[in-house]
Amino acid sequence: MNIAVGLSGGIAAYKVPELIRLLKNAGHEVRCAATAHALQFVGVATLETVSQNPLYTDLFASGGTEHIRLRDWADLLIVAPATANIIGKMASGIADDALSTLLLAMPTNRVVLAPAMNSQMWMHPAVQRNIATLRSWDVQIVGPCEGALACGSSGIGRMAEPADIAAAIASSDAPLAGQHWLVTAGPTYERIDAVRYIGNYSSGKMGYALAEALAEAGAEVVLVSGPTALTTHHPRIVCHRVESAQQMHTIATREFPQCQGAILAAAVADYRPEQCAPNKLKKQGTEGLTLHLVQNPDILATLGQMKTDSQTLVGFALETDNELANAQAKLTRKNLDYIVLNSLRDPGAGFSVDTNKVLLLGRTGRCLDLPLQSKREVARQIVATIALPNAPKP
Ligand code: PMT
Repeated sequence: MNIAVGLSGGIAAYKVPELIRLLKNAGHEVRCAATAHALQFVGVATLETVSQNPLYTDLFASGGTEHIRLRDWADLLIVAPATANIIGKMASGIADDALSTLLLAMPTNRVVLAPAMNSQMWMHPAVQRNIATLRSWDVQIVGPCEGALACGSSGIGRMAEPADIAAAIASSDAPLAGQHWLVTAGPTYERIDAVRYIGNYSSGKMGYALAEALAEAGAEVVLVSGPTALTTHHPRIVCHRVESAQQMHTIATREFPQCQGAILAAAVADYRPEQCAPNKLKKQGTEGLTLHLVQNPDILATLGQMKTDSQTLVGFALETDNELANAQAKLTRKNLDYIVLNSLRDPGAGFSVDTNKVLLLGRTGRCLDLPLQSKREVARQIVATIALPNAPKP
């Protein structure tokens, strides 16, 4: 393939020569374009030496049409690092230098972005809105990952590693390449006061395994995770960490319209305290304490109402009795395509453990009856059944 690598001005630019080397070793031809700010972080000589081609930085070089020549030459344009600025320009159609002009000339389904920025910048509503817009135009977003950041803090915002960006390109012919999926995982915490919450025993293992199985099959995955100790470094998974059901609802309903499907494995609290005391509640006398709970939004039911015919929606049912009937009722009531039933009566299934035993139900009946096995393997088989091109219709 002919690959154009565009660099915008972030510290992660120093890693891009390694990306170029990996792409060259994989047999690709590489040409680079860079913004003036990118060249504060990496030198012209370095980029020209590793790519073995001249660097494109000046919009008016070669009569001002180099961006069109480069667009015609390139099968793919990878922007790494992609700053909030270049992401914003692309989402707004602004072309005011060599790289942004090349981006505007390029078909969006041939663009890959590897964002890199501070966590708060990444979470800014403007950046999230721009990323959602770009995804809806079939731009592939690789990362960002969690980890140490240049500013000294740590969190989401680190550019995906060069090897992971190269791997994401290599797997662009994977069965779910180009698709976007949403996954929820883990518990929610509903605050009672400054130090206490209502929660549950979900570890997030099932949801994270599903996100990874989808990403391994080539999908871009938005993982909305309640509080867990787990992390994921897969470059095609973008993880949003939330605490409460309301926060999970906000992100899931925002992301779902851009997705081919969603799998909701989170154990969401059905109720939350009506009020959260700003300070620690003090023990008073010998009387009991009454908490008034109000209902949380049902995220799965909301997505069921939003769902279009081309989207696949999968829920989970964690049951303790009348398992099959309860799961079937949820499938219908929440307008799902599939429901994954796990029962707390099965040893080794459900919360916290590394294994699960599930029954996958579609609208017309049982699709998959899996024995007790690792959550990773359960996830792979669920994904193969609901998402892969030859999957049976629910
Ligand atoms: O995280 P692990 O420790 O690996 O455990 C995995 C798991 C047991 C949490 C997982 O396999 C599982 O069963 N998840 C769903 C648990 C649950 O809350 O089930 P439910 O029957 O109460 O909810 C039904 C469905 O509606 C679920 O898809 C749930 O995500 C969704 N829901 C529920 C309530 C709500 N307010 N919003 C929702 O989206």
